[in-house]
Amino acid sequence: MTLIYKGQNLFLDSTSINSIAKNNQTPFYIYSYKKIRDNFSIFSNYFKKTNPLVCFSVKSNSNISLISELGKLGSGADVVSEGELLKALKAKIRPNKIVFSGIGKTKNELQLAIKKNILLINIESESEAKLINKISKKLKKITSIGIRLNPGVDANTLSKISTGRTDSKFGLPKSNFLKLCRNIEKLKNLRIKAISVHIGSQITSVAPYRKTLNVLYKLIKLSKINFKYIDLGGGFGIPYKKKEKKINLKNYSTLVEKFQKKLNCKVIFEPGRFIVGNAGALISKIVFIKNSGKTKFIILDAGMNDFVRPALYDVKHDIIPVLKSKRKAKGNIEFVGPICESTDTFVKYKNFFSLNENDLVAITNVGAYGSSLSSNYNSRPLVAEILIKSGKTKIIRKRQKISAII
Ligand code: LLP
Repeated sequence: MTLIYKGQNLFLDSTSINSIAKNNQTPFYIYSYKKIRDNFSIFSNYFKKTNPLVCFSVKSNSNISLISELGKLGSGADVVSEGELLKALKAKIRPNKIVFSGIGKTKNELQLAIKKNILLINIESESEAKLINKISKKLKKITSIGIRLNPGVDANTLSKISTGRTDSKFGLPKSNFLKLCRNIEKLKNLRIKAISVHIGSQITSVAPYRKTLNVLYKLIKLSKINFKYIDLGGGFGIPYKKKEKKINLKNYSTLVEKFQKKLNCKVIFEPGRFIVGNAGALISKIVFIKNSGKTKFIILDAGMNDFVRPALYDVKHDIIPVLKSKRKAKGNIEFVGPICESTDTFVKYKNFFSLNENDLVAITNVGAYGSSLSSNYNSRPLVAEILIKSGKTKIIRKRQKISAII
């Protein structure tokens, strides 16, 4: 994470959080441009020899300014809806660097993607292939598609974010993949350009990726199709706690290099979390502190509508004070949100820093699947997003006006 204490004060890079909170209503998301840039270059450097097209997965953070910054660094975009596609285009990502994934793209969404001549539409069913063919014929276009394979590989991650097992709704099953490819090859307004996989998210070991490459290699050889691109998806895990494991991208990159050499194809990656996950924090104010039996509840102005990962996946994000008190308070504390749901709780600690009502705290590592998963639940407005770039503070999304939801 990119937050550091200078004395007792919390800073994001060289900007004090407190100074930003003076001018902006909490809760708000805050991102470090530097961290995003560094993550992107770390990722690209690991795979330098493969020279892949890196398509930032827009679902992880769909702020147009961030997509645009990544575009300037050379990133393409992985999108899953009309909205994400339009955002990527507005962020000036060139269509030939955009891939469109998803199992349920509608006719309108496909039409837009076809008209814009994006690099690839990654299809997930024969019906989708037929629909793209029909639309392309009408528009007098030949559309480049990728076919998403379900490799039948368990990514050893949270079950709720696994996508490569045989019981998953994603991709075409291995068992009849070749037959489906043959059927799709007959469709005249399509060109099969890619095979794609994405086995899950927050993956911290290379083993499932290795298995996937093996499945892919065998299948590609059997298919005798010359795939121009192989889209290996995203899923690269990050440590949320200090002791947590990082994925060994060096080992994975060696495997990918060999794989690419054997197949002579262009590799595509779709990382989301790895690029933005540790580059963002959610700054929130303590509304009330309530002593309740054995637990002291620290009630924040940020709730599960602003940041839903803990409620949805039962995962923990550390919370740290913006002004670190020299005093420690003994006993159990629990950081919770104001929403009328028992799952609106973030994290529990024993013996935390002493805190008071109106103090600020930072929920850490929320750059990925934070803001993009937020909602208006309990009729609460979407919060502001702020980017720190070269010491300057830029509001990259204004807090939604309450009138917009009334
Ligand atoms: N490509 C495809 C086709 C995907 O479905 C995803 C994520 C990605 C790329 C990017 O995956 P990443 O590199 O960010 O792991 N909301 C969950 C994560 C859901 C991921 C969905 N698909 C969470 O907060 O953990």
